[in-house]
Amino acid sequence: MVFRLDRFLSECDPTLTRKTAKALLHDGAVTVNGKPARDAALKIDTDKDVVAVGGKTLVYRQFRYFTINKPAGVLSASRDNRAQTVVDLIDGIGDGYFPVGRLDRDTEGLLIITNDGALAHELLSPRKHVPKTYIAVCKGTLDENACERLQNGLNLGDFTTAPAKACILQRDLSENDPTTTIAITITEGKFHQVKRMVEAVGSEVLHLRRVRMGGLWLSQELASGAYIETDGETLKKELFQDGTNDEERRLRSYL
Ligand code: URA
Repeated sequence: MVFRLDRFLSECDPTLTRKTAKALLHDGAVTVNGKPARDAALKIDTDKDVVAVGGKTLVYRQFRYFTINKPAGVLSASRDNRAQTVVDLIDGIGDGYFPVGRLDRDTEGLLIITNDGALAHELLSPRKHVPKTYIAVCKGTLDENACERLQNGLNLGDFTTAPAKACILQRDLSENDPTTTIAITITEGKFHQVKRMVEAVGSEVLHLRRVRMGGLWLSQELASGAYIETDGETLKKELFQDGTNDEERRLRSYL
C-alpha cells in the first residue's frame, strides 16, 4: 500500500497525532530508508520503505486481531460516543475496528476485535457453522431432558434452532435459589439466542460467558477486560480447527 508519510505514521502508531507527527518531521526524528525525512506528503510504499522514528522502525500491519475477555457492562460495538465499547478497551488503535459478532452487554467472555472485514464475514457466515460455546448459569434445576431439548432444536416462534450441544456442568442446590450451570454450543448467532433457548426450556440465564469460538478457547490468563494481539494466520488456524479435544476438562476449568 502507498500512504503519505504523515498518514503512515498515524496508521502505525495512532497516538501520533498530526501535530506530533509534524513536530517529529520538523525535528528530523523521522527517517525513511535511513535518511531524515521532513516532507509529510512523501509517498511511502509499505512493502519497500523502512520508516523509523527516533531510530525505532515502525511496522505497518494492514489488519490486526485482538482476542479480548469482554467484561459485563461494555457494549459489543465499534466506537460509540454515548457508551463505552469493547473497541475502547484496546489501547492505541485507530478507526475501522469492530467486534466480530456481538455479545449482549451483560455477557462476558471471548470476543475478537479486528479491522479485517473478510475474517468477520467468514466467521459469521451461517454456512461455516463455527461453533460457539457458552457457560450459562441458569435459574432453578435443569435436568437431562432440558439438555436434550436444547440439543434437538427448539421452536422459538420466529425460528427453530439448529441442533446444538448441551450438558450440565454443575448444580447448586441451595434451598432458596438453586441454579444449574450448563455448557451450550451453538452454531448460529441469533439475537439473545442462548437466553431465549434457556427460557424455552423453562429457566432463565443469570450469567453468561462465551468460552470458545471454533477451536479457539478463552485463555485462562486473560483477566476480565484484558486482551492479547495475535497474528492473523495463527488466529485463523485456531478458529477453524476442531476445538473439542479434551472438551469436558476444559469446560470444567472455567467453573
Ligand atoms: N446468546 C445470548 O443470549 N447472548 C449473548 O450474548 C450471546 C449468545
